[in-house]
Formats: sequence, structure tokens, C-alpha cells
Amino acid sequence: MDTDADRGVVGDVCASIWPESFTIGPWSANHESAATGARKRLALRLLIKKIDNDGRLSLLPQFLETHWEIEVVDPDDLTTFDQAIAQADAMVSMSWKWELRSASRLKLLQLPGAGTDEIDFARVPLGTAICNCYGHEIGIAEYVLGTMLEWTIGARHMDQEFRRGSWAGSYLSGPRHGELFGKTLGIVGYGRIGREVARRAKPFGMRVIACTRSPDRDAALVDRVEGMDHFFDLLAEADFIAVTPPLNEHTRGLFDQRAFAAMRPSAVIINVARGTIIDEHALYRALVERRIGGAIIDVWYQYPPQGQEHGPRPSTLPFHELDNVLMTPHASAWTDGLLPRRNHAVATNLNRLGRGEPLLNVVRAPA
Ligand SMILES: NC(=O)c1ccc[n+]([C@@H]2O[C@H](COP(=O)([O-])OP(=O)(O)OC[C@H]3O[C@@H](n4cnc5c(N)ncnc54)[C@H](OP(=O)(O)O)[C@@H]3O)[C@@H](O)[C@H]2O)c1
Repeated sequence: MDTDADRGVVGDVCASIWPESFTIGPWSANHESAATGARKRLALRLLIKKIDNDGRLSLLPQFLETHWEIEVVDPDDLTTFDQAIAQADAMVSMSWKWELRSASRLKLLQLPGAGTDEIDFARVPLGTAICNCYGHEIGIAEYVLGTMLEWTIGARHMDQEFRRGSWAGSYLSGPRHGELFGKTLGIVGYGRIGREVARRAKPFGMRVIACTRSPDRDAALVDRVEGMDHFFDLLAEADFIAVTPPLNEHTRGLFDQRAFAAMRPSAVIINVARGTIIDEHALYRALVERRIGGAIIDVWYQYPPQGQEHGPRPSTLPFHELDNVLMTPHASAWTDGLLPRRNHAVATNLNRLGRGEPLLNVVRAPA
């Protein structure tokens, strides 16, 4: 039963970053059994990393229907982290690199996102289920459509020139800008992002083709979907190429010099998945030598630590000096709709764990 006090706690938590440890749920965390007087722990225990305690998980209490004690931990303090994980039922983290024998009780490693490329699977205890979650595909699909439109129309550039007094681009003198209508969009890795992009591109009159590992799903959304053996056919046909597979041993460096050579000279590559799916040097050379039309790049080769606004350039190569690349700082998914969707997805699995129900989006089932 929800009490006013519990609701108060939840409200406070939503409005701010969490304290080191607190309890949420319909009952008090630890309760005295009337019959035995024994102290019985009713709450499950969830660990959240200190670095993630910046508000990105602040909506969890809204969606939790089971009883959880939440502890904020600093994994760099290994001794304390080791003690905390020995008591934990679940942990929310996008990464796992620790060799922790004390984690054997952990039932769930819940990723608050999709990419599993920062999980060292061999080090996660075998009894721990690993689950990811989604909810980013809407924001990313809007980013892909928005940047393709911006690339094609160039409204921002016209605005800047027009303010300076130039009528360039007008019907009076031209030049003309392009249309998405009738252009071919190639989607590589046809999953949630790929499908949401296709859903939005078709009403613009684009021809949409895709290639992916399992080409037998949602073919109705696109003009053609094929296996990865047709990768080079797609590259040769597409005006825009959306890169959306996960980063793994098969996709790292998938877009290399050969791939760029296969593209149309006007083709624009859009990377919203992971930087290293595109070979950094091959991309830079293709842009500098203008072998392709350009690139829209949201995911990169080097990053500042989480929480820092300033850091290194996104690559050791000077992409920022090129005029045929549109660069954004891994922002395509980071929309106002993402937080509630992701928090809901994480809480759903915590609720399922709490009730003993099957988990969703299981990447690796417990042995
Ligand atoms: N920019 C951002 O902020 C951001 C946010 C979220 C995610 N991402 C990245 O985007 C990736 C995709 O997200 P999603 O939601 O679309 O994931 P998804 O629904 O799992 O889709 C990924 C698709 O890629 C296919 N695939 C897997 N391995 C492949 C391979 N070797 N070659 C070609 N296709 C392959 C999968 O095929 P099967 O289904 O047959 O395995 C699946 O259709 C994530 O893994 C993550 O790295 C980026």
C-alpha cells in the first residue's frame, strides 16, 4: 500500500539527486516480525554507481512497484564496492570490468541503455542475468531525419548568409537545394533504430533499403531488406547511409577504405551507433579526398569522462576542420523523452525480478 510518507519520499527523490542510501517501495525497508520479533529484510537491494547519480535514474521511484533499497556506490573504492555488491540483488550499470567474487549473489545486471560493448561478459558472475533496454530509437530516428533534412536544405547556412545580406539560395538567383524525396536511404543493422528511421523516412518519399544480420523482420517498412552479404550493394545504391548495428567483433571497422570506395561520390554516411564501427582513418581520408559527399557523425573515437562538459577532441584527427562533416557530441538519443522511457524500462525489470517474473531484453541469461 502506498502511504503519503512513501509518496513524499518518492517526490523528493525525483526532484533531486539521491542520498548515499535510501529505501523506496510500498512498505518500510526492514520490518519487525510481530510473531518472532526477528528483523526481516523485505527490500531487495539495488546498486547505482555514483557517476550515474546525476539525475539520469531519478525517475525510477515513479515506476517501482516492488520494494527496493537503493545504494549509491563508488566502484573506484573497491573495498566498499566489494562489500556492497555482496549484499546486492541488482546493479544498474552500462559497464562491467570488475572481477568480483563477492558478486555471486547478484541476480541482475541491468544496463540503462542498449550497447553491451562496455560489458566484460566473462567477468560478470554466471548466475547474473544481463539485460539491456531501449527507448532511444525515437530520438535517434528524429535526429537522423532532422540532420538529413538539414544537410539537404541547409536552412541554418542560408539563415546566416541571409542575415549578412546575401540572397544566395533564393528563387531569384539560386543555387537550388535538394530534396529527400526520391533519394535512397540505406540502413545498416536493421533493429529498433533502423526500423524507427525507416518508419519516418518512407513518408518523405524516400526509397529505403536495409541490410542486417537477420533480414527476415519488418520487411514491410522498407523497400528491401537483405543479409549482410548485400552490404556492398547497399553502399553502391544509397544516397544516405545510416549506421545502426551494435559494436561487436563483426562490426568494428565494418566501414573501411573498401566500403568508402564502394559508396557513391555524393553519399552521406550517418553514424548514430558507435564510433569505431567506422574506421577513423578511412572516414577522415574519404572526407578529405572528397570521395564521398559527407558525414553526419554523432558517435566518436574519444570522449571526456562522464559528467564533464569539456574534454579531448572527439578524434585525434582534425574532423572539426572539415566542411563536409556535421558533428554532434553523442547527443542523438539524449532527448527529454529518453529519461522517462529508460527509467520505466529499468524499473520494469526490477519489478519483474522482485515478483519472480521473467526478465525483459535478456542479453545473457543466468547459467
Ligand atoms: N547514439 C546513441 O546515443 C545510441 C543510443 C542507443 C544505442 N546506440 C547504439 O545503437 C546500436 C543499435 O541500437 P538498436 O536499438 O537499433 O539495437 P537493436 O534493436 O538490437 O538492433 C541492432 C540490429 O543490428 C543487427 N546486427 C547485429 N549484429 C550485426 C552485424 N554483425 N551486422 C549487421 N547487423 C547486425 C541486429 O540483428 P539481429 O537482431 O539479427 O541480431 C539488429 O537488427 C546499439 O547497439 C548501440 O551501440 C547508440
